[in-house]
Amino acid sequence: KILILDFGSQYTQLIARRVRELNVYCEIHPFNNFPELDVTVKGVILSGSPSSVRDQNAPVPDLSKIKGQLPLLGVCYGAQFMAQNYGGLVEASDTREYGRANLKFIDSDNELFREIEKGSQVWMSHGDTIMKLPGNFKIVASTGDVEVAGYKVENEKTFGIQFHPEVYHTTQGLQILSNFVVDVCGCRQDWTPASFVEETVQALQDQLGDDRVVLGLSGGVDSSVAAMLLHKAIGKNLTCIFVDNGLLRKYEYENVLDSYKHMGLNVIGVDAKDLFLGQLNGVSEPEQKRKIIGRVFIEVFDAEAKKITGVKWLAQGTIYPDVIESVSVNGPSATIKSHHNVGGLPEKMNLKVVEPLKLLFKDEVRRVGNEMKISPTILGRHPFPGPGLSIRILGEITPEKVALLQDVDHIFIEGLRSHNLYDQVWQAGAMLLPVQSVGVMGDERTYESVVALRAVASTDGMTADWVHLPYEFLGRISNEIINRVKGVNRVVYDISSKPPATIEWE
Ligand code: XMP
Repeated sequence: KILILDFGSQYTQLIARRVRELNVYCEIHPFNNFPELDVTVKGVILSGSPSSVRDQNAPVPDLSKIKGQLPLLGVCYGAQFMAQNYGGLVEASDTREYGRANLKFIDSDNELFREIEKGSQVWMSHGDTIMKLPGNFKIVASTGDVEVAGYKVENEKTFGIQFHPEVYHTTQGLQILSNFVVDVCGCRQDWTPASFVEETVQALQDQLGDDRVVLGLSGGVDSSVAAMLLHKAIGKNLTCIFVDNGLLRKYEYENVLDSYKHMGLNVIGVDAKDLFLGQLNGVSEPEQKRKIIGRVFIEVFDAEAKKITGVKWLAQGTIYPDVIESVSVNGPSATIKSHHNVGGLPEKMNLKVVEPLKLLFKDEVRRVGNEMKISPTILGRHPFPGPGLSIRILGEITPEKVALLQDVDHIFIEGLRSHNLYDQVWQAGAMLLPVQSVGVMGDERTYESVVALRAVASTDGMTADWVHLPYEFLGRISNEIINRVKGVNRVVYDISSKPPATIEWE
């Protein structure tokens, strides 16, 4: 495997994804807390950073057991750090080193640049530049403005590049990464969805033995793929619980239960609609809604799981981005992100936790699901928040408002599907606003609700942009909603990006 030492760059995860695209397994670790180097580690990549090597408290890794002993590639900050640390000079750049540039010079004998064409486009993004290299560092690539675009340390497998090979705008970036991980590090490209399934199933069998496991299905991609892996590993010892909290999409409960049963999973459906809606009665504050839903979910799930005898494990669909330790460049402390709707569930239930997907990025979860023949409809589903429609009904929730919003949402989502727009959108939904507006229908004046439609493009939900859905489509959907859903006389489309807005309105 490859280790990626993170200095806090926004692109670190992208490096990992590219390396994995080459079917080579890699892990991200904070620069100041990396694991023991054993024989499985074939090479190390140093990420970029928002810091400058000239900053007082710039991140400083301990490379004493790595440099000169293992293949090492510094990207951007990583390259500048090594240049500066081993006797060179890095200064603030006086020419622009942001955006595209072309490689003017390439040392054709250099392994890292094998098959890279002269003139190849690369993407720069840094405020500093390497002015002088240490004596035994040799320039192997340059652009018009940046002489030290790439270097190699003599008699070592140590390389630095000041541009970003991981971004799409570096046209041959994947080739450069391949040259490093395959040719220089000698990694075998055998980390595939099939090998992942095989190894994970085996590991789960070893870990779980004859123990019983319970898993909360949400209908989403992650819990579905986690369930299927466990199903392959332990068969009937896995029980899945799917809770209807009354805030799901229209027909969601029936459809999801049905498709899981088709997959051979042992699923228990729990209809807890009245319980959830009862507890939410009169509550309008968003965080309060989330807390209530989280708490009631735990109660319902716990009660259901207790009916199964001898359960020892709780399975969760946690994925890699949830467990990567993030680097805080403003201090040595590292924080671990944890983002769960049902935080507290394992503690409350006194169960051990098994997380079969915790090494995978979202796109890899899909590929693994595909490998296990899970239907594309499940794998291609848009994300849907745990608190469901409750955070799309602004203000107080009533069963009538839920029913109304389910109808609106259904028309919108089915419209996206039938116009072949569903897969172009990362997430979509409708919001019921606490606003009445005047309209006219026939000869009648109406005073009814406003709904907002939202469709966003994103890769991880952290940032998002609104999707430019065709006007013609929006017009049709708006008509259909107003004509068919009683109580709605106005439809608006949300054109804000995140940031500064968020995807959900609450
Ligand atoms: P925001 O609204 O923060 O949403 O831009 C980002 C992504 O997270 C989802 N979301 C949630 N998911 N529990 C969840 O499981 C929540 O409380 C929650 N709030 C927002 C949202 O749907 C989007 O995909």
